[in-house]
Amino acid sequence: GKDKELIRGSWESLGKNKVPHGVIIVFFVCDRLFELDPALLSLFHYSTKCDSTQDCVSSPEFLEHVTKVMFVIDAAVSHLDDLQSLEEFLLNLGRKHQAVGVNTQSFTVVGESLLYMLQRSLGQEYTAPVRQAWLNMYSIVVAAMSRGWTK
Ligand code: HEM
Repeated sequence: GKDKELIRGSWESLGKNKVPHGVIIVFFVCDRLFELDPALLSLFHYSTKCDSTQDCVSSPEFLEHVTKVMFVIDAAVSHLDDLQSLEEFLLNLGRKHQAVGVNTQSFTVVGESLLYMLQRSLGQEYTAPVRQAWLNMYSIVVAAMSRGWTK
């Protein structure tokens, strides 16, 4: 109930200026991600030389992946009433991440990046209940992805 309203409300205000905000958001997420765990850089296969975090962050491969993450978050926001319907998709997505060598703990870093981005973009609207609502939704997404892991 309340969580859904908070998530929809904050996602709506973020989406109002999609193009200019989208660019800023992508850079916040990248910066934060690699500040927290630079080892994740090596998992992306870059077509251009990546000598620094900055090179990688502005590479097409990385920007494309952030766009993919945002697509999944957007899908979760629009399926808040029926997250169960994304179960199969998320399970397969988890499977693909295991295949490329990601471990489930790394999803925490992406979650922190997402919260960081929301905090920076929402300003005053980023309240404790908003933070908790997003954390809850992200946990559901990550739990579903993690079920795709096989031993
Ligand atoms: C694909 C890395 C977290 C969504 C990929 C690929 C890599 C990768 C190397 C394959 C190449 C590519 O498509 O760019 C990572 C790492 C993560 C992470 C290192 C954590 C630190 C996430 C999260 C989501 C996500 C949390 C969504 C909530 C996707 C999607 C694809 C993808 C949608 C495309 C899958 C497909 O081809 O069907 N990821 N990923 N990733 N990732 Fe991630």
